[in-house]
Amino acid sequence: MRKEVILNTLGLRAGYGGKPVLQGLEIEVREGEIVAVIGRNGVGKSTLMKSLIGLVPATEGSIVYRGEAIEDLAAHKRARLGIGYVPQGRDVFPRLTVGENLLVGAAIKGKATEADRRRIFEIFPVLEERLNQRAGTMSGGQQQQLAIGRVLIADPALVLLDEPSEGIQPNIVQDIARNMVELNRATGVTIVLVEQNLDMIRAMAQRCYVMDKGRIVAALERNALDDVAEMRRHLAV
Ligand SMILES: Nc1ncnc2c1ncn2[C@@H]1O[C@H](COP(=O)(O)OP(=O)(O)OP(=O)(O)O)[C@@H](O)[C@H]1O
Ligand SMILES: [Mg+2]
Repeated sequence: MRKEVILNTLGLRAGYGGKPVLQGLEIEVREGEIVAVIGRNGVGKSTLMKSLIGLVPATEGSIVYRGEAIEDLAAHKRARLGIGYVPQGRDVFPRLTVGENLLVGAAIKGKATEADRRRIFEIFPVLEERLNQRAGTMSGGQQQQLAIGRVLIADPALVLLDEPSEGIQPNIVQDIARNMVELNRATGVTIVLVEQNLDMIRAMAQRCYVMDKGRIVAALERNALDDVAEMRRHLAV
């Protein structure tokens, strides 16, 4: 049985000032999927993520989440509906401790219970070890785990992950990929992943959209992800 569509966009357009970036973009994601969005630098992948969460307004078209048009909702309202967003470059609060960063993430759903915190520490044990450390003093990989933990603590149904591998050591990249896949299997959380790192794409994604110039130009199924030469071509067009 095919699962329900959790997110889709129709003719989505968005940009900055007069500069169009998304030019009629269409994607469809089902409950429980891990879908990657790939494409070379500057094609609009981050703009897509920002437009899905509401940080860049849609100028045309629609974004439908669980059957409801959300393109006019403010970002915090989309977050409350269960959409979590981990931005490119992580953006943790550098002067706050790990624990304080997690509290900020939990505020979306009210208050973090001890069970919520335990759930996050089971996924990313380093966050418990470093609970009282200022986030800005941690490694890139630890900050990435915190950025993801800060989103997961609010228990989202859909996670938007923008280039989690960027600037991170390969072993941590694999750790994060494995943890996210395990979480997906255990909870059914849906993940839309923007990536350029082939190892991370292959470790996480079940299928993949290829973006170019603000549009989807190809949709690849799982078996296509194993064609390394083909994937490299899509990442470097
Ligand atoms: N805040 C902004 N103001 C104006 N233009 C922007 C802004 N952010 C991005 N752009 C431009 O929009 C286009 C798409 O950028 P975007 O960041 O979405 O690309 P990307 O696919 O995520 O690239 P990368 O792989 O480098 O992260 C680029 O031409 C970029 O220069
Ligand atoms: Mg980007």
